[in-house]
Amino acid sequence: MVETIDLQQFIRDVFQSKFGSPPALVAKAPGRVNLIGEHTDYNDGFVLPMAIDRAIWMAVSPRDDRRVVLHSLDFDRVDEFSLDDIQKGDLGPVEYVKGIAHFLKETGLDLVGFDGMMKGNVPVGAGLSSSAALEMVTARVFTALSGAPWDPVAMAKLAQRAENQWVGMNCGIMDQLISAAGQEGRALLIDCRSLELKQTPLPTGTVVVVMDTNTRRGEHGHMDSAYNERREQCEEAARIIGVPALRDVSMAQLEASKDRLSDVTYRRARHVVSEDERTLKAYDVMLADDPAALGRLMNEAHTSISDDFEVSSKALDAMAEIAQAQPGCFGARMTGGGFAGCAVALIDEKVVEAFTADVARLYEEQIGIEPQLYVCRASAGAGIVE
Ligand code: GLA
Repeated sequence: MVETIDLQQFIRDVFQSKFGSPPALVAKAPGRVNLIGEHTDYNDGFVLPMAIDRAIWMAVSPRDDRRVVLHSLDFDRVDEFSLDDIQKGDLGPVEYVKGIAHFLKETGLDLVGFDGMMKGNVPVGAGLSSSAALEMVTARVFTALSGAPWDPVAMAKLAQRAENQWVGMNCGIMDQLISAAGQEGRALLIDCRSLELKQTPLPTGTVVVVMDTNTRRGEHGHMDSAYNERREQCEEAARIIGVPALRDVSMAQLEASKDRLSDVTYRRARHVVSEDERTLKAYDVMLADDPAALGRLMNEAHTSISDDFEVSSKALDAMAEIAQAQPGCFGARMTGGGFAGCAVALIDEKVVEAFTADVARLYEEQIGIEPQLYVCRASAGAGIVE
């Protein structure tokens, strides 16, 4: 919390000293952690994430020459482009900004250029959606500068389009939508077909711990292709079964179609179909304030995504398993797209200190990398900060 306020002030101060006047506005958009419902969003299914108290802040003042000049403090670079000539460049943070600008322009919005400065504390490439946070903070800034209303769902859809078509990552809607629409103290069950959102508090007396394996997804493009391949396998399964998306398949239907699917396609589908079931149950048990039941579902979800969907890793498996074995841990699993990055645990608030110390030590002993563990609070989605 202290860190949050500090970063906000920090970015104002740096802006002021660079440009000689305070920013016209500061916006922020959070990263997210997904409690359950992994690789279900692009199958029109269900996810249950929460926005976290880590975000990207952008301080801006309008320019009158339709140029965007963006100082990125984390990447130590300055990028510049004209709103009248937005061209794709090498992958870097500004590509997300350009993608949003391009698709906002397509909606007919009259964009205003700006001098901007950004900084965040969502670890990059860790599976906590730093890209979605960047997309949403950009969208929030552009809409505010143009005086347009803020529609979180419409903006999340636009940002997803930007990521699919500008950056080339065929992600679903989860990350953008939770970064746009997150709620303080709440996780959101998202129906990724209707985009209906239902909120629930976390179980009483529990906290969510994000456990960063400190392994990263390596070359961006490489892991994106593994992600895109999973998506294609799911779409193939739906096509063979004869439904619009795996969301429409029950476990009984999947079993009846088993002979028509290759072993890999069947297992991919089994993960998605069972994960949708678990996610709906998870929402119910959260409403019933039953942390033990939620934890069991998280543990099952980890096994499913690791064995059937095969997007976990040695480090993620170790982290999830070590966490699961600790006293006071209700459940743990890898979170996000997979291959590297973070796992998430639901624990009894009384064991936070012992849990984080023991998991960190055991993980480092086993994997040889020092991890980072932090308690995350459910936070509000993208907004202008005072
Ligand atoms: C990434 C994508 C999301 C979602 C998750 C897996 O975070 O951006 O759309 O598919 O992976 O659940």
